[in-house]
Amino acid sequence: MFYPEEVIEEVRQRNDIVNVISTYVKLKKTGANYMGLCPFHSEKSPSFSVSGNKQMYHCFGCGVSGNVYTFVMEYENFTFPEAVKYLAEKAGITLPETEYSSEAKEQADFRNQLLEINKEAAKYFYVQLMSPQGKGALEYLQGRELTKETIVKFGLGYSNKYSNDLYQYLRNKGYKDSVLMQSGLISQDEKQGAYDKFWNRVMYPIMDANSKVIGFGGRVMGDGKPKYLNSPETKVFDKSRNLYGLHLARTARGRTMILCEGYMDVIAMHQAGFSNAVASLGTAFTGLQANLLKRYADEALLLYDSDEAGIKAVLRAIPILKDAGLITKVVKLAPYKDPDEFIKAMGKDEFQKRLDEAMNSFYFEIEVLEKDYDFNDPEQKTRFFNEMAKKLLVFTEDIERNNYIEAMARKYSITYENLRKLVHKYGITMPVTQASSIIERRQKTKKKEDGIQESQKLLLTWLIEEVSLFDKIQGILSPEDFREEPYHKVAQMLFTQYKEEGEVKPAKIINSFSDKEEQNEAASLFHSNLKENMSPKEKEKAWNETVIRIKKESLDYQNRHATDILELQRIIKEQAMLQKLHISLQDGAR
Ligand code: CTP
Ligand code: MN
Repeated sequence: MFYPEEVIEEVRQRNDIVNVISTYVKLKKTGANYMGLCPFHSEKSPSFSVSGNKQMYHCFGCGVSGNVYTFVMEYENFTFPEAVKYLAEKAGITLPETEYSSEAKEQADFRNQLLEINKEAAKYFYVQLMSPQGKGALEYLQGRELTKETIVKFGLGYSNKYSNDLYQYLRNKGYKDSVLMQSGLISQDEKQGAYDKFWNRVMYPIMDANSKVIGFGGRVMGDGKPKYLNSPETKVFDKSRNLYGLHLARTARGRTMILCEGYMDVIAMHQAGFSNAVASLGTAFTGLQANLLKRYADEALLLYDSDEAGIKAVLRAIPILKDAGLITKVVKLAPYKDPDEFIKAMGKDEFQKRLDEAMNSFYFEIEVLEKDYDFNDPEQKTRFFNEMAKKLLVFTEDIERNNYIEAMARKYSITYENLRKLVHKYGITMPVTQASSIIERRQKTKKKEDGIQESQKLLLTWLIEEVSLFDKIQGILSPEDFREEPYHKVAQMLFTQYKEEGEVKPAKIINSFSDKEEQNEAASLFHSNLKENMSPKEKEKAWNETVIRIKKESLDYQNRHATDILELQRIIKEQAMLQKLHISLQDGAR
């Protein structure tokens, strides 16, 4: 942080969030809050809520939350210092000179320089592509039926045949070797000195969700090897948490994303009008990428190459996407290899049909499994049913599992009762080490945790809506009862604010998290769905249930981890007291 905390807080307080957001989004007053169409995902009916009391916003559609700083950072694509400057100017506040010594400043500077270098390089590659020496590369791209518009949209370029051209160019711009060597674009060795990593390739800039260039993929024109060369990971390029094409796809209509394998697939789909396509970055798909998708979509269509490697990758990606809460379907392109080929051969209408026919991912998994067994052999057929029964255990909800059992029974001509019995058998007897049990267990603990976290969220939201409730939990709940981050840190700050100032400023808390994802997560803790219009009695009941639930979980945890007998005695005493606890919400009483 380069500005003193008081300054940051003053700038925040002098920029009323409703005023600021109103300049970007049309807001309408509804109850205590304002509602509008979310600027961060596309929607037809408003689910974006701005609260003047909390000085925060929250979208019930895509889940983004934050304060006035995170809003302009996200919307204007500002870094934090840029957001401070912008809002200070709006409020007529003169900022103090920043100190240049801090380590944080250096770090941010370094990152910014890497981003600038990537941007410069992208421009440079583009100019090369459009100049005489890029003629061959341009012809290559046009040969692949890319339009000029598409080339510009994706910022494609060309790295020419000179071995240190880009290096010289960037040096002339004033960048130092120490930074250039960590940009992923320049290498050096004793013999050659510094040289460009990319050489005689068509260049695909890779952008983050905010359209900042963070790395490159470079393709040989023709059959050379390796086909693609990618920037290595750098301080600004994390392959596990970015997706190619996301900066465009995030603004596409609807809540579906298409996930494919290659740069060219994304580009071909966008050109054909499927602007919700993204791809991983030459590395296996990760949970972080799935979470990123979940911010913009509820449904993922998997569109991997139809070869063996593609099928394997699909089977890997399915549980990851489902774990992130996405409805997952698989699109089949056979006999074509990938989306690019398919669209070229069949056109976009046929492609749309394939998307519409996307297969339920479980059906897909079973269809793949089926290929390993010969149904004419009774023994193999039996084994197939056993394997399928195990897989059916991933559905932890009875109704859902039964629906799938029913569907599978019909499809493979076995009676529902028989298949159900088989599934049931594995549900009871399978050793915990077996895959589907593990999944089941993981989902169960996850659900339980989610339940507790829901309660904690509810309580935190409740406390900021009604500050007087702090007094009702004094001596019962403390920040230590919120174990997981960011719950713990947020609770800590909130309790301290109340103790020291008698009021709370939730929006202030957001800025003590530096990472964007963390800020969003912290902000979301204040946006639990409190039920409105509860009767005093209902409210008291809900309040007690919430407090007791959180305390009980916390004591159970302490109990499991207690190391000495005195501590254990205290915990047991508290547990006994909790049994009798009832907090009255009538005025004055407790
Ligand atoms: N890839 C890579 N390195 C390689 C080959 C592939 O990083 N040597 C990654 C790239 O991200 C590529 C993706 O894997 O986009 C899929 O590979 P492939 O299907 O071969 O590439 P396409 O993008 O389909 O490119 P093209 O159509 O030009 O062959
Ligand atoms: Mn391909």
